[in-house]
Order: sequence, then structure tokens, then C-alpha cells
Amino acid sequence: MLASKLASALESRTKRQIRRTLPTAPASTSGSTAAASLALADFTTNDYLSLSTSPVLLSHLHSALDSAPPTHILGSGGSRLLVYSPAHAELEERLQGFFNADAALLFNSGFDANVGVFSCIPQEGDVVVYDEYVHASVHDGLRASRVPKAHRHAFRHNDLGSFERALKKMVHETPGLTAASGSSPRNSLFVAVESLYSMDGTFAPLPEMVLLLESLFPAGNAYLIVDEAHATGMYGDHGRGLICRAGLESKMLVRVHTFGKALAATGAVVLSSQLIKDYLVNYARPLIYTTAISPINAVAVNCSIDLLKNGVAQQLSEQLFSLSSYFVSTLHARLRSASIPSTLVSLPTYLTSPPISPLHSPIIPLLTPHPRPLSAHLLTHARANARPITWPTVPKGADRVRVCLHAGNTTEELERLIDGVLTWAKGVMKEERSKIGRMGVAGWAESKL
Ligand SMILES: Cc1ncc(COP(=O)(O)O)c(C=O)c1O
Repeated sequence: MLASKLASALESRTKRQIRRTLPTAPASTSGSTAAASLALADFTTNDYLSLSTSPVLLSHLHSALDSAPPTHILGSGGSRLLVYSPAHAELEERLQGFFNADAALLFNSGFDANVGVFSCIPQEGDVVVYDEYVHASVHDGLRASRVPKAHRHAFRHNDLGSFERALKKMVHETPGLTAASGSSPRNSLFVAVESLYSMDGTFAPLPEMVLLLESLFPAGNAYLIVDEAHATGMYGDHGRGLICRAGLESKMLVRVHTFGKALAATGAVVLSSQLIKDYLVNYARPLIYTTAISPINAVAVNCSIDLLKNGVAQQLSEQLFSLSSYFVSTLHARLRSASIPSTLVSLPTYLTSPPISPLHSPIIPLLTPHPRPLSAHLLTHARANARPITWPTVPKGADRVRVCLHAGNTTEELERLIDGVLTWAKGVMKEERSKIGRMGVAGWAESKL
């Protein structure tokens, strides 16, 4: 029976403590803890620049809607291939210029954009090499593509040695990737990475990757596809992203920028050559067989781009990065001075030991084998909403509470969060010590097995 199969799959997830549920409304502010009367601090959303609550953006949007033609605000009426929408066409033209690209194509979401690109661009016989942490949408696109599993190869996260080995393995195993004398290679290799990774806050070494591809594929048949979902709006000149920051626009086959995170809207844009755009219009099913985002959303994206262009977003990014730097250095110092063991809770070493990236990230993982109790403690005792992230979203043994910082977070909220982490860790240590007192070291060690 279907119902019993579905229920037993869910039950299995419950038993393994990996069952997903939709978040419920934040707990009411009445309660007995000292923190109960405080407003809940957001350390969860991807609204990195706090634009979704910006009165400046909201009033700008109201004016833009007031002056938009009334026939071009509500539902788009159908697929992009069916209905001409000036709002969409104009936004594409603007994004193409803003991001310094040859062509721009809107998708309804970043998920759709990745599925569209990866499901149709790689051709028969091509291979794909991807960072082990790339987004689920890349995997879903590849599953629907012409690339069989044996032609898809992961490399270790941000590890250039592993990347190089994966490339060489693919070259070795795929004769079509190398040029026979006097002709060009038959096949292509695609590389899928994110410029800023959403679970770790780490940055892809893009310039080094480009150099490696150029040296191993002198015929130019290796192509980089970069997802800038989490970097859009925050990095590079006026938030144009990390590829623009590194001046690598011309080295990319495809860039994906999304609007649902720092830009406080929804949708995404694929930046590419005109040829790739034309191909996507013909073959990308998530573009062809869906109703386009409504023009009101295109107006909202335009308003967010206005804030990038006029420098407002750049100020917010600077504020955000200074909060990030403060949070990491203060929490690191407090964990050390309280002698909290790294096995209980710690910051990743790439944030605390050299070489430390000169770029600050709004995403900061608090590594702990107890993400749920820590997150629950932060919610009730510090009124801080930072979500637990566990396998299968992150690898086994890499559980964490992920802290997403926002330009609108206050230093007081960060202090509360830091105090919350420390009081939780000290509480756990105290409990462990009292268990040792009661059971003796041998009994306590056995209870851990
Ligand atoms: C790296 C990355 N790419 C793509 C997406 C999907 O973007 P969207 O939320 O616009 O569908 C996400 C969202 O979680 C993401 O983290």
C-alpha cells in the first residue's frame, strides 16, 4: 500500500533524527527566561543585506509600481515563449549590462536555472566535474541530462589538488576530450562550482581553477559554470559578484545569479553568450514549460538593482562584513578563554587559522555534534534563530548550527548569540562533570559508547 510505504519512509527518518518539517511560527515572547521579551533575532534567512525589511526598498518599490503601466504588473500570463513581456525583456537587458555579460535569460528560480542549464547544455559524450558541495539543483539537472553517472565526477570541496586529479582522470578516461592531431576535441568538460558556499561560507578559488583549466585544456573545451546565488549583491563592485570582482567574466560559460537571497525578490538570471541563451530558450524545460515570474517581481528585482547601483547595498555589505569579522573574532576568543573543547562546539579552522580568506562571509557554521540542542538553547535563552543543519544536508560528522548574519543584525544581537553559545557549552560541560562525579570516569566513558 502506498500510504504504508510513505509512512514507513517518514518513520525511518524520524528514527534517524533526519525528518524534515516546515518551521512553525516563532515561539511566543511570553515565558519565564530573561530573553523571553526580546524580539527574535534572525540568524537563519539568506536575506543577507536585510533588504526584505528595508523601508527604503519598500518605498522605492511602491513608487516603481505606481509608475509602471497597470497592464504590466500582475500575472505574466504564461511561458516566456508564449507571451511578450516588456518587464522581463527590459530586466534581462539591464542585468546583461550590469553584470557585464553578452546575454541574460531570466528563470523563475535559481533551482530552475541550474536544472535548465545542467540538463541541456552538456552533450552526448561530455563529462562534468563538480565540487562535492554543489547545490542539489545541479545534481537534479545532471540526472536529467545526457551525462551518465560514470561521466560525472566530484572533487573535494575547494581542494585544487583534488580538482586537478579529477580533471586528469577525466582526460585519461575520455579520449574525446583531447585533440587528435590536426583536429579539435570532440567532447567538452564542464565544471560546476559556487562562488560562495551556502553551508560553510567558503569561497571557490576561481582564478586558480581558471588557470588549471586553461593549462590542461589548451583547446578551450573545458567550461566553468558558476553559481553566484549567495554572493549576489554583496561582493564585487556594487554587488556584481565574485566573478566580476576577479575580472573573470570572459572566462565563464555560464553564471547564475539569484534574486531570492540578498536581493529580497525571487527568480534568477543565467548570464552567458547569445548562443547559450538561444539554446536554453529552445531546450531548457524549466524555462519553456512554466509560467514566467509575474512582472511585479521583475519590478522588485529592478528596485533592488537600483539599490546596488546607487551604493546603498554596498554600505550594507560593509556593515555586514564588519559584523561578520566581529562575530568570528569575539566568539573565537570567548571559546578559547572559557576552554570550551572543540569537540563540543567550534568555529571551522579556515575562519581561525591561517591562511584566512581576506573576504568576510555572512555564513558562519558553529560545528557541533549537538546542533539541535544548541539551536533550541539559542532560541529560548538568547532569542536567536539559528537553525541546526545535519546530514544529509551536510556530510556525516559535519553537523552544525549555521549562523547567517545580516546587515540589520545589531551588535547586541551578536552578543546575545555569543553568550548563548557559551552558556550552552558551559552547561553541557557542567553536566558531563557531574555525571563523571556520579558514575566515575569508567562508567561515564562507557555511557558514551
Ligand atoms: C547555491 C544555490 N544555488 C541555487 C539555489 C536555488 O535558488 P532559488 O532559491 O532561487 O531557487 C540555492 C538556494 O538554496 C542555492 O543555495
